[in-house]
Order: sequence, then structure tokens, then C-alpha cells
Amino acid sequence: MLGKREHWSSGLGFIFAAGGAAIGLGNIWKFPNVVGQNGGGAFVLVYLLCIVVIGIPVMLGEMTLGRAAKKNPVGAFKAFSSQNSHAANLIGVDLILAGIALFCMKQFGWSLILSLSGLLIIFFGWAIIGILCVAVPFLVLSYYGVVSGWTLAYVYKSFTLELNVETMNAAGRIYREFVQNPGWVIGSFITFMTLCALIVARGVKNGIERWSKILVPLLFALLLIVMLRSLTLPNAIGGIEFFLKPEFKRLSTRNVLAAIGHACFTLSLGMGIAITYSSYLSRQQNIFLSALGIAALDTLATVFAGLAVFPALFANNFAPDQGLDLIFNVLPAAFSCIPTGWLWLGLFFVSLALAALTSGAALLEVVVSYYIDEKKWNRSRAVLICTSAITLLGLLSALSIVSWENIEWVQYWLVSAFDVRSPAFLTTVDYLCSHWLLPLGILGTSIFVGWIWGTSKAVQEIRHGSNNFADVNLIALLAGLKNDSSHNDERYHVLTLASLWGIFIRFIVPVIIAIAFIWMNAR
Ligand code: PFF
Repeated sequence: MLGKREHWSSGLGFIFAAGGAAIGLGNIWKFPNVVGQNGGGAFVLVYLLCIVVIGIPVMLGEMTLGRAAKKNPVGAFKAFSSQNSHAANLIGVDLILAGIALFCMKQFGWSLILSLSGLLIIFFGWAIIGILCVAVPFLVLSYYGVVSGWTLAYVYKSFTLELNVETMNAAGRIYREFVQNPGWVIGSFITFMTLCALIVARGVKNGIERWSKILVPLLFALLLIVMLRSLTLPNAIGGIEFFLKPEFKRLSTRNVLAAIGHACFTLSLGMGIAITYSSYLSRQQNIFLSALGIAALDTLATVFAGLAVFPALFANNFAPDQGLDLIFNVLPAAFSCIPTGWLWLGLFFVSLALAALTSGAALLEVVVSYYIDEKKWNRSRAVLICTSAITLLGLLSALSIVSWENIEWVQYWLVSAFDVRSPAFLTTVDYLCSHWLLPLGILGTSIFVGWIWGTSKAVQEIRHGSNNFADVNLIALLAGLKNDSSHNDERYHVLTLASLWGIFIRFIVPVIIAIAFIWMNAR
């Protein structure tokens, strides 16, 4: 089976595919929103810091694990741990005890979840993190696909001039009518899922890699064009200032948490994407440089999107803090105020749809790879069954936006069991994933790589294809003494990229994520 594993055809193909997986609705749809609501430039700076401090180390950890194991996330965690780990058993027992305590406090939903998680940890050992890394993409794609479907519909609506309205009220009305129309919402969702399935069904090289090599450059070209148009609008400077000028007094703890969360989401961490994609990677590839390249591409897309959106808003006096639907119910009005605005809006939504498509395909590939590796299904069968199952679950999200009346019991059950307050199933699943499952996936992965599998084995894997990049003496390099022979004496301990990464993945990342997790969920 190992010999038959698919591979990327080139290192660049991998970077495009992994970049395409990272760049998505998060960069173009969510980011301008979170910036708008979290105070602009200072938030952007903290977000960039989080990419460096958390994002790149975790991505490197996931990539290393995936390439060393050459397996899907469940297989990878299983491959490098024993099923009967004392540490895992201890955590499992603790969770069961916590579950019993919560039961006594009549918190039945959480009691059930904690006890069940404890049992699963005892039963599966560390592979439970792999299971989480497969389950989360399944859940995420179910609602991500719904919003991605909207982008397809908005491409159509932009080019048919339906969005050519100059006031926010009118754009908001079109948006509300759209999301309450079951035909549009379900139709566009199913179309999106079908496109993802068609890409993934063609396989790693002929499907994901081939399409990423076309779609990612196209996405950048379109974003660049729209950004240049926005930047050349009169008064664009207000938007640029808002986006880039840091005002630290506007920064709160909530903003910092949002920055951490968004950095993890945008790099698609904690969802097995980098593990799965790197399992198709050859040992000649420099994964250190690849991780940097992917993070750089993702950040570039984010900056382009911000510079496309904010100047257009400010040029036309629209406020940037309109909430999650900024792109759908404010941007059309902002662009309609400029000549041939429909064209720029249309191009913007095409880029958004392309970004969503490469991310959707990545989410689907993680689930599919699990069934191919672990259950020995063939690719077509895995794609068909996984896509259908995700679409069925996603219909709940789609319908919850259209009209809750039909499926109110689902929402009622979720609210009473978990005390999750949110208006729709879509936002409930988003909340559960981004506040609970994603941080747990990231925490679990970093602890596993840093402490259970171990940084020394991980660094050995990183060294393949790295041309000593991981072992460069950073201090000597910064001091201009790279070629000074005494600085390269192996008897001295030196600070290298590999040792720096080890410290981050063992201490810094787990501590920050654990604090953020507790802070975020403590009420
Ligand atoms: N990183 C993607 C985005 O920013 O939209 C979202 C995402 C895609 C998250 C794929 C996770 C994932 F597996």
C-alpha cells in the first residue's frame, strides 16, 4: 500500500496546493471583518506576530509528522505512539472524573462530552488527536461549503448587475433575501460541494495540484487588480490608514484572542491539512522553507484582500465594522458607487470563490485520505460517500440560515445541552469548531510532536531536504560570523532554527494556546 501512495509532482506544486488550502474565505471574507471589529492596524500587527510565533511552528510540526508517517492524520498519530500510553490513560481518567463532577452540577451536555472524550482517549490513545483532525474538517466543510456557495451565487449576481445598488440598505436587503431563499442557498451549496468533489476525485497530482497551480495564481492576479482599483480611488488613504496604522490603545484582550484564533484558522492548523498534504511530499523537499513560503503566500493574500476592501469602503464613507457579513452586504454598495463597479465586484467575488474552492478541496481531501488509508476504500467511493455525508450535514447549516422554524428542535437541543447561544446552526457549528475543537487539535498536535513523538525525531525528519538549513547557527549568522570556524565548533551549544523551533513547539505554542483556550471559554 505504501508504494502506491500518491505524490505531488513537484515542490512548487505542493506549495501551491498547500497555499491554496490555507488561503480561503478566512483571508478574504473573515479577515476584513475581524480587522473592522477589532480596531484596525494594531490588530493586524498582533495577527502577524501570531503567524510567526504560533502559525509557522505548528505548521512545521504538522508537516513533519505527515511526511514522516506518510499517512492520513489518524494513521500518523497511530504510527508514532503506543495505544496503551500512560499519559493518555491519565488524561482520559481525569476527563471522566470531570464529566462525573459536571453531571452532579447538572451540566448534562458537557458531562456527556467530557466523559465520552475520556473514554475515547483511553480507547484510542494519542490517535484521538488524529481522529479530531479528521472530524473537524468534516464539520468545518459542512458550513464552510454553505458560505462558499454564497460566493458562487454572488459571482453570478455581480455580473448580472443585480448587486448594482448604491446604498447599504439596498445591498443588505438583497443579501437578506438571498440567504432566505432556499433555492439559491441550497443550490449554490450543492454546486460548491460538487466542484470540490470533482477536484478531489481526480487525485493528488491530477486533481488538487493541477487545479491549485491554475487557481491560486489566478486568484492572486484578480485580487491584485481589484486592490489596485481600490487603492486608486479618491480618499482611499483613509482605508489604508485604518488597515495599516497601529493604534495600540484600541487593543484589548478580546482582540488578541481574536488574532490568535484567526492566525490558526487562516493557516488551516489543527485540522490535519498540513499532515495530509505533507504525507504526499518527497523527502527532497525543504519543509522549513515550504512552511515559510506557505505562511508568506497566505499573509500576502490577506494583505491584498484588506487593501482591496478597506479603501473601497472608506472612499465611499462606509463603516468598516459591519460584522460578519461585511463582504456580502456592504461591499456591493461600496463598489457600486464607482464607475464599472460591477466589474470590480465581480472579479472580487471570483477571487473569493477560487480561494474557497481550493480550501474546500483540502478539507475534503483530509476526510477522503482517512477512508482511503484506514478503510481501504478506493478514491471515487471515498469522495462520493464523504461528499454526500458532509452535504447532508451542511444542509442543516444552510436551512438554519434560510429558516429555523423547520428544524428548531436541533437548535433547541444544542442550546439546552451546551448552553451555546447563537442564532443559527451554521454559527453554532462554527462556534464549536473555532472555540473548542480547533484549539484542542492544535494543542494536541503540538504536545504530541513536542513531547510524545519528540522533537529529536521530528528534527531528523526536517533535516531531510533541508541542506543544513535547520542547523544554521543563528547567532553566528546574525553576527556575520557564519564562516568563522570557531563558531561552527560542534562542542558548543548554539542556537539553531531547529532548536528554536523545538522550544516553540514544546513550550511557547502549548502555553499560549492553552491560555487562549481557557480565556476564550471562561464565562
Ligand atoms: N484557511 C482557510 C481560510 O482561511 O479560509 C480555512 C480553512 C481551510 C480552514 C481549510 C481549515 C481548512 F482545513
